[in-house]
Amino acid sequence: MLAQAKYRKDYKHPDFIITDIFLDFQLDPQRTIVNTKSKVKRLNSESVTLRLDGHSFQFSSIKLNQAPFSNYQQDAEGLLLDLSHVEADEFELEIETILVPAENSSLQGLYQSGEGVCTQCEAEGFRQITYMLDRPDVLARYTTRITADKSRYPYLLSNGNKVASGDLDEGKHWVEWQDPFPKPSYLFALVAGDFDLLQDRFITCSGREVALELFVDKGNLDRANWAMESLKKSMKWDEERFGLEYDLDIYMIVAVDFFNMGAMENKGLNIFNSKFVLANPQTATDEDYMGVESVIAHEYFHNWTGNRITCRDWFQLSLKEGLTVFRDQEFSSDTGSRAVNRIHNVKILRTLQFAEDASPMSHPIRPEKVIEMNNFYTMTVYEKGAEVIRMLHTLLGEEKFQAGMKLYVAENDGKAATCEDFVSAMERASGIDLTQFRRWYSQSGTPELTVSDSYDERHHIYHLHVSQMTPPTADQMEKVNLHIPLKIALYDEQGRKISLVHDGRSVHDVLDVTQKSQSFEFHNVYKKPVPALLCDFSAPVKLDYEYSIAQLVTLLQFAENEFVRWDAAQMLFARELKENLIRYQHQQALEFSSEILTALQQVLSHYQHNVALTTLILTLPKETEFAELFKTIDPDGISVVRDFMLRTIASAFKELWLKIYNQIELDCYRVTQEDIALRGLRNLCLNYLAFTEFGNSMVNKHYLYADNMTDTLAALNAATKADLTCAESLLADFEQKWQHDGLVMDKWFALQATRPDEQVLARVIHLTEHPSFNFTNPNRIRALVGSFINHNLRYFHHIDGSGYRFLTDILIRLNESNPQVAARLIEPLIRFARYDEQRQTLMKRALERLNEVENLSKDLFEKIEKALQ
Ligand code: ARG
Ligand code: ZN
Repeated sequence: MLAQAKYRKDYKHPDFIITDIFLDFQLDPQRTIVNTKSKVKRLNSESVTLRLDGHSFQFSSIKLNQAPFSNYQQDAEGLLLDLSHVEADEFELEIETILVPAENSSLQGLYQSGEGVCTQCEAEGFRQITYMLDRPDVLARYTTRITADKSRYPYLLSNGNKVASGDLDEGKHWVEWQDPFPKPSYLFALVAGDFDLLQDRFITCSGREVALELFVDKGNLDRANWAMESLKKSMKWDEERFGLEYDLDIYMIVAVDFFNMGAMENKGLNIFNSKFVLANPQTATDEDYMGVESVIAHEYFHNWTGNRITCRDWFQLSLKEGLTVFRDQEFSSDTGSRAVNRIHNVKILRTLQFAEDASPMSHPIRPEKVIEMNNFYTMTVYEKGAEVIRMLHTLLGEEKFQAGMKLYVAENDGKAATCEDFVSAMERASGIDLTQFRRWYSQSGTPELTVSDSYDERHHIYHLHVSQMTPPTADQMEKVNLHIPLKIALYDEQGRKISLVHDGRSVHDVLDVTQKSQSFEFHNVYKKPVPALLCDFSAPVKLDYEYSIAQLVTLLQFAENEFVRWDAAQMLFARELKENLIRYQHQQALEFSSEILTALQQVLSHYQHNVALTTLILTLPKETEFAELFKTIDPDGISVVRDFMLRTIASAFKELWLKIYNQIELDCYRVTQEDIALRGLRNLCLNYLAFTEFGNSMVNKHYLYADNMTDTLAALNAATKADLTCAESLLADFEQKWQHDGLVMDKWFALQATRPDEQVLARVIHLTEHPSFNFTNPNRIRALVGSFINHNLRYFHHIDGSGYRFLTDILIRLNESNPQVAARLIEPLIRFARYDEQRQTLMKRALERLNEVENLSKDLFEKIEKALQ
């Protein structure tokens, strides 16, 4: 197999560019003919060969300046044109290719989704449509003409503005689109199909009217409103907070059922996984609503950070993704609860990104080496990338950060930029030296901050001693010191904040940690304080400070920063879990610290002060969150101990759970912050009550009276997790009601896959035959298989190896049909180093079996190779 790695350091400017491209699609799912005319320009006059990328289609002809051209070599990945006899530095290439969208299961390039046809070109999907200089630094003006059957495909869409259309014989019609903004090929999009259309408009800050069009499958119009509202909200927010206005006269979003990822920001024509568009109270949970809102916002924000300014090469992916995730997080925080959003994002980072950094796939936010680019749409590039932008924001402050954004946009609009261009703009606009900060772009791994303190009672001086260390990672042995913004606060025992003073002057609450080891001194501290460290998770690092239970309880109860309170609870839970795990491993009785229980009870009984935060604090971390506390993970132990903790909290506060459950009344379903918080707490009560003697009857009733999916699912979740007698009948009722609807059934598949019993794998295997399941739909696969392997720690890692064998079978099946999805699913297997020897052996055996597979995709090859190295 040909699996060549590419290195960031090897970047070269293109010798040729394509300035204009005219695409003509004769669309038919069984045989689509694509005629492409490109205006090519030679930039390097020395260059006599032109390499075009392209594969997975039938190549029918190539012409140069209208004359048949045969001076080329074809291989599995493209064409090499010999231009030694071509004098002119500008010429036209005309290429004809033939595609079969109906048989393209990779969901890259042009493919059939349901009854429609659509594209996915990022990162390198355009080359599955025609031969192209398929790299993000080649920006061209696109004109696209689509011809297709009119009754089957009444809507023919592409980027930019519709400039012409007409009817043809044999029931066909055509539409021509022109995108005035030069763009890289990965932003090209085409959609053909029959849809229901939701129309609206937006008046921009400069008074221009933008037509908003949202296309959904027929019959789904009643699930389209939330996405439209989210879009308008995003457009407004980007004008107000970032001063960025939309630039075309039309903005279209199409929801499709078959999609490998969340959504795609194609210029003027976003294509979305229907999961992130469709929502109504009957089908979507509160969490789904929030997901729709943030993905709609994310793709919209890409119009500036991604499209107007794109990436020079794919190593720079975080330039647009990290920044755009930061922007969508800020949007959600400005329009919703900042603390709730921050906690949500930190949970994701600490579990999923930290785990990635500790895995064979560890890479910096700007990777150095890539075999398959699709493998680098990762938690690191996206989420850690956003944390890096957030640290910049913390160091610069909003005003200077926005000045930096302004400069970045002014300098790079219409161009393909690098991460360095961004940091440089931030540096020059703010006057703050970012030399050391830049290392965040090149260093992988999770830094560890070790903090100790000392208090000088005589002189009222408090010292914090901070040292940093980043352990070696799979990709990088040597590590350097980073510039880490460490946000702190000091509290006295009554929970009052102590102001930070040094030599009579107040000091900033963000400490600049830059050296291997540093001390910070605070004056006028009249009592030994309780430090709150890494407030708001001011840097993506692990913190090590030896808190006592009493200190954590102080923070939990009194800290004025909501994040600090939540984080204190996390540390308390972590401590309980660790101590009990040791007891479990020594076959001793488990016990729950009464001090901690009392503190939690305090929080719960005052829930009215802050409903959302109470819910977050009282939510026990998931098994996978706990797993990240350990170098070697004990799946059985973690599962047993967590279950013990869950049951203890359930029974210890039984009366309180019951009281609050009954106190909270919501008359109808509204998606407001307040109602979401109340539903969240009430459903948390139910979750705990499920483990008490009231469980069965309450959960049954909750399900029966539920008038929205959030409550319905809460009941099902409680029933299955607590293994109640009603579980089977409720699951059957739900299945009967929703079997026609894949998106809703995904919730059911996920519940089935995360049931905590010995039969779960047998059930999952059986469900791959379920009429609502479909191996060609990534959402179904993620719901059933993904949930089992990623969220059922105990049974996926069953010591008999059955979970690993199951996953291997699935991966072999998906290797050729959808390598992108396969490569996502393989992750838990390549992380074998985190388990005991017996499991390691089984997991490695599974990987070796995979390694033998014929036609192993680059996607899987890259990960297996790294793992077995
Ligand atoms: N740019 C898209 C987004 O973040 C994701 C596209 C992912 N594509 C892929 N082939 N991995 O919104
Ligand atoms: Zn994105």
